[in-house]
Amino acid sequence: MEGNFVMNRNQQQMPLMEQLISFAKKEPLSFHVPGHKNGAVFPDDIKAYFESILPLDVTELTGLDDLHAPQGVISEAAQLAADFFGAEHTFFLVGGSTVGNLAMILAACAPGDKIIVQRNCHKSVMNGLELSGANPIFISPEYDPSVQRYTAPSYSTVEQAITEHPDAKALVLTYPDYFGQTYPIKEMIELAHHHQIPVLVDEAHGVHFALGEPFPTSALALGADIVVQSAHKMAPALTMASYLHIKSNFLSKELVGHYLQMLQSSSPSYLVMASLDSARAYLATRTENDRENILTSAHQVKRMFQHGEHWEVVTSNDPLKITLQMKDGLSGFAVADAFEAHGIYPELATDRQVLFIHGLKGFEKSEKLQKTIKSLNEQLKKQPNHATIDTSDLFTETIQQLAVTYQQMHRLRTKTVLIEHAKDQVAAEAIIPYPPGIPVILKGERITEEQIRLIQHLIQQGATFQHHAIEQGIQVFER
Ligand SMILES: Cc1ncc(COP(=O)(O)O)c(C=O)c1O
Repeated sequence: MEGNFVMNRNQQQMPLMEQLISFAKKEPLSFHVPGHKNGAVFPDDIKAYFESILPLDVTELTGLDDLHAPQGVISEAAQLAADFFGAEHTFFLVGGSTVGNLAMILAACAPGDKIIVQRNCHKSVMNGLELSGANPIFISPEYDPSVQRYTAPSYSTVEQAITEHPDAKALVLTYPDYFGQTYPIKEMIELAHHHQIPVLVDEAHGVHFALGEPFPTSALALGADIVVQSAHKMAPALTMASYLHIKSNFLSKELVGHYLQMLQSSSPSYLVMASLDSARAYLATRTENDRENILTSAHQVKRMFQHGEHWEVVTSNDPLKITLQMKDGLSGFAVADAFEAHGIYPELATDRQVLFIHGLKGFEKSEKLQKTIKSLNEQLKKQPNHATIDTSDLFTETIQQLAVTYQQMHRLRTKTVLIEHAKDQVAAEAIIPYPPGIPVILKGERITEEQIRLIQHLIQQGATFQHHAIEQGIQVFER
């Protein structure tokens, strides 16, 4: 057992970060991995950028604990996070929410088990299903015409799925969506629990909900069993830094821990882990005043965007998400490109929307933003409008299953077909525009005309896909 584990509930403390800093201050000699030897061995031309952090990029040395058997500073840091977020136990993730989603699904179901899953989930959820060999029961989200996109499943859809499949081993939901939209998840959690079904929530975009009102309430506080959050998305943490929180009467933290030690690196980044410690402290120590400043600033930035003539500013439940809804058939991709040409980078573009995310601090570059919006008002007048497509018929069935099981997929041969010839074929790969990373076609799903139309439209609009060459065809199973 390392160090003296003292349960410390002072949220200003950062046990892991502090230990790393005091370790580095001793200027230890490295005869161990990593090969940069605390920064001594590094390409000269880029050293300047990394210099200050390399001494903290260490490994499981004495006093620095071990992510896979935490008993010292990592355990203390995780306990502080659990206390702050209201979990029974918090795991630090160094592979993003991706690894948390995989682990929670593997912990919840064995091959062949039914699991109810929101259809418009991130691909990591779908990959978790495939890895587990589960039998997914997909529930379709509702189409919201005011924002022209699918949001969340309705209560009645969840109810129908549970009634038809009471033997499901879990319900998997995404909350909030990419645009910060939440929904009455509490009632769904209660319903699932009433049927002894645990609820797993991908809350990748909601770590800052812990700041309290007016931010929505985290699914963890609303009773969800496992909640995964990308700290790096909305809090000041390094890319990939994420949390998995568990508080459950149905699922054990030991089983989740078992899968996490299989899925996570045996050399987890101390920089990433320490940033989880400091991000939690950052969130926990925001004062009422800080929160007011953030919200006032987000409001002001929204008002700046409202001076744009080619879009409307759409609000969601999350005050930090600013969505521009294109007018007059203007393409969201083209508008995002135009912003980027002025050095302003949004989070995400779709053919109709552009999403901007405000940070957890007052925004200080108003002048540049205002100037850009003004010049885009002129510039975009010359932009040709693009054909829009009605996607409200994408999910035709409320509850849907794969055409072939994951076990059958192993034994099937695949072939390539052009997307225009793929109707009624069973997809052997997922087709995923990225971002947002939500598959339009799922692996194992029978391909519909609506899906083909949407993909062709997205290709035409310049959307990016995680695919090597979608124009040359997609993989389907041979029959
Ligand atoms: C809803 C959702 N879940 C999970 C993820 C994966 O998160 P990460 O990038 O932290 O692995 C993303 C990433 O964009 C996401 O949007």
